[in-house]
Amino acid sequence: MKKQSDSKKQIRDMVDDDIFASDELKHVLPDFKMPRREQDADRIYQAVRDELMMDGNARQNLATFCQTWVDENSHKLMDQSIDKNMIDKDEYPQTAEIERRCVAMLADLWHSPNPRTTMGCSTTGSSEAAMLGGLALLRKWQSTHKRGKPNLVCGPVQICWHKFCRYWDIEMREVPLAPDRLMMTPDEMLKYIDENTIAVVPTLGITYTGRYENVESIARALDAYQRKTGIDIPIHVDAASGGFLAPFCQPELKWDFRIPRVKSINSSGHKFGLSPLGVGWVVWRTRQDLPDNLIFWVNYLGGNMPTFALNFSRPAGQIICQYYNLLHLGFEGYKRIQDACYDTAKYLARELNKLKIFDLVADGTDGIPAVAWRLKKNASVNFTLYDLADRLRTNGWLSPAYSMPPNAQDVVVMRVLVKHGFSRDLADLYINDIKRALDFFASHPVQTPLKRGSFNHGK
Ligand SMILES: Cc1ncc(COP(=O)(O)O)c(C=O)c1O
Repeated sequence: MKKQSDSKKQIRDMVDDDIFASDELKHVLPDFKMPRREQDADRIYQAVRDELMMDGNARQNLATFCQTWVDENSHKLMDQSIDKNMIDKDEYPQTAEIERRCVAMLADLWHSPNPRTTMGCSTTGSSEAAMLGGLALLRKWQSTHKRGKPNLVCGPVQICWHKFCRYWDIEMREVPLAPDRLMMTPDEMLKYIDENTIAVVPTLGITYTGRYENVESIARALDAYQRKTGIDIPIHVDAASGGFLAPFCQPELKWDFRIPRVKSINSSGHKFGLSPLGVGWVVWRTRQDLPDNLIFWVNYLGGNMPTFALNFSRPAGQIICQYYNLLHLGFEGYKRIQDACYDTAKYLARELNKLKIFDLVADGTDGIPAVAWRLKKNASVNFTLYDLADRLRTNGWLSPAYSMPPNAQDVVVMRVLVKHGFSRDLADLYINDIKRALDFFASHPVQTPLKRGSFNHGK
């Protein structure tokens, strides 16, 4: 009897086509223990997809530097390469070849003296690329220094450099900021270097403000230091964002291998490189700048190919999409897209200025297309930038407020990254929501105590 009613129920379940009335969705999803029985794939797919609605909307994420919009062809290429492992160079030689072509094109874009023969590779992002660039510099330093603790000198760097220094036991000498100096300057840098400095790392597109540190003047100061002391300190440029901006929009700016002291550069393909998440690049000035003992040799097209990466298995789609972007956009296409981002950033900056309560820390004219602002010292307002960020979240905007690194922690800023896909119209909707938030604060004094947050992406 029981058997018969069970089978009736099974048949009813099979003809029942409403996912939300199905057995699977009558329960909350397991969160600690996997279920014993198989469940219907489509129903579970729906439930998992619905859980993802709780995330913020990526297209409204103005905090991230990473791409939140990619074209249909990139979606197709990602799908078509979902089964390809980047590490299997022998099995997927054409994908390996595509990676090699990207490295050569970037080496050329960044003015390597030998773009065809120099070394470089794809990574999962700038963090892994920075780790590899840093390791090469550490090995170089170790080859001439048997004693002493290595140190690395930088301005307000992204967390990946803190990780690099901590993981490899390197003393991190982060030049402290001042409220009126929000980057490393050559004069300040000179106070921190010595014979154990493995490298100075300027950032082309500081995470906190989007502004460029002046690589050329830092290099000149290091040239003078070498003439005086004989100590030769290399530069690695963290061009996570700027590496795909400056070559197109400020080609006259010297920050790359045109400066002989610049030995390596990292950049994020998934930021202004316009590729889907999961690709970064590191390129060395010449073959000699990557120490041999970091290289592993793998079979490839019947020959031997050098590899150097922290990961073994890695998806290939992002690299293939990078190649697609480099080919289909070309120099002019990248320039047009990035110029449009700068125009929108300037528009945002102008509109924010009109509100008369903000001081702009970055206005999209000096650095990457980012706008950062703080409250004017004398602004007579009853809210903080943290409150404004919270309020904007009710409209779906993710544009957090944060405090600056030492010694400028009292400076609290909000920052918006203008990326491909953040159109003038979306920028206008964002500004209108800021105005609405200000009206709201004017009629509803904020009740919550001041929140103190620090930058959680760069620290
Ligand atoms: C200057 C800088 N360096 C490194 C990184 C880390 O890059 P990724 O997220 O590609 O690992 C970032 C990320 O925002 C950055 O802004």
